[in-house]
Amino acid sequence: MVGWSCPAGGAVSRLDAMTTRTALVTGANKGIGFETVRQLADRGWIVWLGSRDAERGRQAPVRLTAAMPGADVRLVALDVTSDDSVAAACDTVTEASGRLDVLVNNAGIGGRFAGPEDTAVADFLPVFGVNLLGPVRVTSAFLPLLRKADVPRLVMVSSGVGSFGVTTDPQRIESTLHGLVYPSSKAALNMVTSQYARALTDVRVHAVDPGYTATDLNGHSGPQTVAEGAEAVVRACTAEELPGTFFDRHGAVPW
Ligand SMILES: NC(=O)c1ccc[n+]([C@@H]2O[C@H](COP(=O)([O-])OP(=O)(O)OC[C@H]3O[C@@H](n4cnc5c(N)ncnc54)[C@H](OP(=O)(O)O)[C@@H]3O)[C@@H](O)[C@H]2O)c1
Repeated sequence: MVGWSCPAGGAVSRLDAMTTRTALVTGANKGIGFETVRQLADRGWIVWLGSRDAERGRQAPVRLTAAMPGADVRLVALDVTSDDSVAAACDTVTEASGRLDVLVNNAGIGGRFAGPEDTAVADFLPVFGVNLLGPVRVTSAFLPLLRKADVPRLVMVSSGVGSFGVTTDPQRIESTLHGLVYPSSKAALNMVTSQYARALTDVRVHAVDPGYTATDLNGHSGPQTVAEGAEAVVRACTAEELPGTFFDRHGAVPW
């Protein structure tokens, strides 16, 4: 979807736009993405809040700026499955900000968790469309703008369930979840991240596992709060020293 208005787009930044860092977070109208925007904006960053759903998108910056007067949160319509929507979002950010220091590919869907016998090929398509092709589409569109930053960063919000190391460790809760679709979409995202990290030598590229976090994605079954879930994401955006290419809030995660 393209074309709905961005009421928060003209907000005045708290700091000089030339020195303030700018980030875009996809899928940020709720959950971990919303909390990531909140934490970055609280640090004084200019944050573009990407939203597919128009109504949730309109509400999100209003909620954030009500809690943080002066925060510079800018709504941008962004459906990661649509070339037109991503291109329009890139035009909006380029024209209004002229720079992007950090791109956070956070938008994701869980799809249907079912055993192998009950999984059809068609079940993969929407999930791979959002979780794998979405980050590739958004990264391709925004890379030229990202590369104008002094130290550009590309952050992929992955998952421990996409890790071979984590899902084969009987101590980890992720080893008890059986599903073909969502885990393989995040495993593929991990490989894409690894390839970007080796190929884009001028960009800091990271995959992060938020950990099992209570959000709509899992019917709020996760034990972590969104603040805890956003911890590794925000760290990937802001910290100089990071534990590796793939990490969670406790440290490095095996691929
Ligand atoms: N929660 C966990 O335990 C957990 C653990 C590991 C990794 N993750 C990952 O963390 C990320 C955020 O998930 P969450 O838990 O915060 O889930 P969530 O609360 O369901 O939020 C998902 C976000 O993705 C957006 N989205 C879905 N399809 C989209 C599309 N086509 N284009 C743009 N945005 C789209 C949703 O927007 P709409 O409102 O428009 O649908 C929503 O803002 C995901 O990548 C997820 O895989 C979550």
